[in-house]
Amino acid sequence: MTFQDILANRVSIRKFDASRKVSHETLAEIISAASLAPSWKNSQTARYYVAESPEAFGKVMSALPERNAKNASGASALVVTAFEKNVAGFNREGMPDNELGNGWGIYDSGIANAYLLLKASELGVDSLVMDIRDAEALRKAFSIPESQEILSVIALGYRTDSPLRPQRKPLDEICRFE
Ligand SMILES: Cc1cc2nc3c(=O)[nH]c(=O)nc-3n(C[C@H](O)[C@H](O)[C@H](O)COP(=O)(O)O)c2cc1C
Repeated sequence: MTFQDILANRVSIRKFDASRKVSHETLAEIISAASLAPSWKNSQTARYYVAESPEAFGKVMSALPERNAKNASGASALVVTAFEKNVAGFNREGMPDNELGNGWGIYDSGIANAYLLLKASELGVDSLVMDIRDAEALRKAFSIPESQEILSVIALGYRTDSPLRPQRKPLDEICRFE
């Protein structure tokens, strides 16, 4: 499988096969890949809470709005992504290095989560990133400390259909070569 195949294989899946489970070992391999991502001064502030058991899975499901819950219902695991605040982009005195402040923590998590999605794709595991979620319900369910900001919920499982990738903007609209 080439890297281009891995990229081509990843598309948001909204119908997962409830009869197929992603093994714990595969989930661990996927999350481990995220830790290979670069981060601000190697601060590694991305955090993951993996709902694998039916009980934990149910807690995340109840923090999702109806449509996302329906789309993720057949998934094997739900990964709550978060990051440790006020570290990436901050100096020793706790002051932001520049105007982006915690934007750097979000930036780092975004890169790490891209690694996660692409590793999943390489292993034939499908995904759906969801930002519409009740962050405070997730915080409570997993006792996520206030020092962490909660980002997305990522559903991982196996697809039952192969949707077309939504169209992308042409290169000349998103990039300028000079
Ligand atoms: C930060 C982020 C939040 C998203 N939130 C949702 C969501 O709440 N529900 C959903 O169905 N899709 C969600 N998506 C999936 C996007 O709609 C999808 O990535 C986009 O339409 C491009 O399609 P593709 O992933 O198939 O290439 C989200 C994606 C990202 C990166």
